Amino acid sequence: MASVLKIIDLAKVYSLETVLVYAVKGVTLEVEEGDFVALMGPSGSGKSTLLNLLGCLDRPTNGQYFLAGQDVARMEDDQLSNIRSRYLGFIFQQYNLLPQYTVVENIEIPLLYQGAKLSNSTTNRCIGLAKLVGLGNRLDHRPMQLSGGQQQRVAIARSLVNDPAVILADEPTGNLDSRTSDEIMHLLSKLNEAGKTIIMVTHENDIASWAKRIVRMRDGVIESDVRNEKPTVSIEGATSTIQTELLESLVLHQSK
Ligand SMILES: Nc1ncnc2c1ncn2[C@@H]1O[C@H](COP(=O)(O)OP(=O)(O)OP(=O)(O)O)[C@@H](O)[C@H]1O
Ligand SMILES: [Mg+2]
Repeated sequence: MASVLKIIDLAKVYSLETVLVYAVKGVTLEVEEGDFVALMGPSGSGKSTLLNLLGCLDRPTNGQYFLAGQDVARMEDDQLSNIRSRYLGFIFQQYNLLPQYTVVENIEIPLLYQGAKLSNSTTNRCIGLAKLVGLGNRLDHRPMQLSGGQQQRVAIARSLVNDPAVILADEPTGNLDSRTSDEIMHLLSKLNEAGKTIIMVTHENDIASWAKRIVRMRDGVIESDVRNEKPTVSIEGATSTIQTELLESLVLHQSK
């Protein structure tokens, strides 16, 4: 399998008034296309910092980062936002939806940030993505009118709008009960089966057990990195909200 991203000796130092915080201390990691990685470790170990570096949301202090073969560590801002919107999708613990917008409009947002023009075809794609995550009957609802699990599904649909190669998720089930967490994990694992590479921060073993590879951090370094021989798979139909037939048309065309 080809590697989709590779970091070499990546470091992030925050400087607060009088102290330096070494949040990530020289991490080397390669992730293959189609992998599903759980990033674990205690609070403060640098998981979110590393995920933000991988997401080009933050810049490393040191080291190299190759995303889809391109060296992004020292790219200019506009080049960086371009590569971010082409290759990466984001899911956060707090969903980060805009309250005044509907489900479909929230899914459209990355297109707007990217400067794309909305058209019937982009709207139809967003409606399709809403259906894919089981929200076909909630298209005009606003976040306040949705449950937490439904809001996270909107966020997942939004993360797919640019057909990214990699989905980065920071504690995607952190605010959800266990049944709803299973629904979300079922959805992420279907997307992984459809070819999306996923890197997900979690500190729950149950959630990490869905991943194919488990990377543990401690004090800003990788402590262990193991394959999960038997990832959790959900029983078809039990918690499924995904419209499997839509996967093919909306997600399965890796064209980059
Ligand atoms: N913007 C910042 N400025 C200064 N220090 C920061 C900043 N962001 C994170 N840190 C520090 O970097 C270290 C790693 O933080 P990070 O948020 O990556 O941890 P984490 O593993 O995601 O923890 P949690 O499980 O609590 O989310 C911590 O010591 C934190 O205080
Ligand atoms: Mg964190």
